[in-house]
Amino acid sequence: MKKPVFAANWKMNLGPQETRGYLKTFLEAFPPAEDRTVIIFPPAISLVVAGFALRDRPDVMLGVQNVHWEEKGAFTGENGAAMAKDAGATVALVGHSERRHTFGEGDEITAKKCAAAFKAGLTVVLCVGEKIEERDRNTTQAVVLRQLKAGISRLTPAQVAQIAIAYEPVWAIGTGRTATPEDATTVHTAIRRALKEVVNAKNVEIPILYGGSVSKENADSLLKAPEVDGLLVGGASLDPAIWASIAHT
Ligand code: PGA
Repeated sequence: MKKPVFAANWKMNLGPQETRGYLKTFLEAFPPAEDRTVIIFPPAISLVVAGFALRDRPDVMLGVQNVHWEEKGAFTGENGAAMAKDAGATVALVGHSERRHTFGEGDEITAKKCAAAFKAGLTVVLCVGEKIEERDRNTTQAVVLRQLKAGISRLTPAQVAQIAIAYEPVWAIGTGRTATPEDATTVHTAIRRALKEVVNAKNVEIPILYGGSVSKENADSLLKAPEVDGLLVGGASLDPAIWASIAHT
C-alpha cells in the first residue's frame, strides 16, 4: 500500500521566529512515523529556520510554496528553485490556486515552474482545481485535466513518475466547503487515468492529494475515499497541535 501524504501549506503565515516555536511544538506532538509522508511548506523566508529545526527529523520533508522558472537574475522578489533547494527544500508546490488566480499564473508558467523545479533537483506537488463556475458548467474534469496535462508537459515520463498531484477545487479553498469524498474520488480517478497514459508503468504510484478546507473533523473521511492518497492542508495546518492530529490520521 502507498504511504499517505500529509502536506501543510502555511501560505503567507509564520515567519522565522514563529516557525521555530511551531516546529518545536509540532515535533513533540508528532513522533517519527514511517507509515506516512509529511511535508511542510513554510514561506520561503522561513525555510532555513525550518530546515534547522528539522535537522534531526528526516521523516518530515520541507517544501517551497513557489519558485520562479528562471534559475536566477533580475527578478526582484522572486526565488529560484536551486536557491530553495540550497535553503533546505526538496519539494516545490507548483500551480497552487492562489498562484493561478490571485497572481494570474496560467498553464504555461506552471509548466515552466515544474520543469525548473526538477532541473534544480526538487520534486513537485502540482496543484489543479476548478472554479465554482467551471464546476457549475460541468467542466470540472476538462479543466483539471487541461491543467494537469499542461503542468507536466515539459517533464519527462521519469520525472512525472516522481511528482504528486493535489486536487484542490478553488471553491473549497479557505471557504469551509469541501468536496464530498465521492466527488474527490471521481476527479482523482480521472487524474489517475490521465497520468497512466503518460507514465506507462503499472507499478508507478503517483500520490493524488485532496485539498480545500481539510480539517481535523473531515480528514479521516476524505482520506478513506478511494484514490485519495493524502491531504494538502492550509488553514488547519497553522496550529501545530491540530496539524499533528491531522498528520496522525
Ligand atoms: P485550506 O487551503 O485548507 O485553508 O482550504 C488549502 C490550500 O490552499 O492548499
